[in-house]
Amino acid sequence: MDVAFVALEKLSVLQEGYKKAFKVNGVDLLLIHHDDQTVLIENRCPHMDVPLVTGTLIYPSAIRCRAHGIEFNLKTGEAGGPLAGTLDCLKKYPLAYEGNQVGVDL
Ligand code: FES
Repeated sequence: MDVAFVALEKLSVLQEGYKKAFKVNGVDLLLIHHDDQTVLIENRCPHMDVPLVTGTLIYPSAIRCRAHGIEFNLKTGEAGGPLAGTLDCLKKYPLAYEGNQVGVDL
């Protein structure tokens, strides 16, 4: 299958605290702009699959899952706390840019 750019959001909309879920080609994605970075991750907590769109963005550069409070580093994808090292990392997708839009090549 050919890879194609799928636009998700206008760059000008990416302000601090931005967090929005998308579904692209059957993949649940979560676009986040937080702590001076934009990241695209799978909208699924590696602990028990709860959608991370309901999570809380915390400093520095992490998201706390609403279900059991595990914090995931948005830079490394790793879980913090007692379960660190036992959970999968967040699944990250590389961002793609076209014109004034940010998106993903899927
Ligand atoms: S499902 Fe996310 S911390 Fe448990």
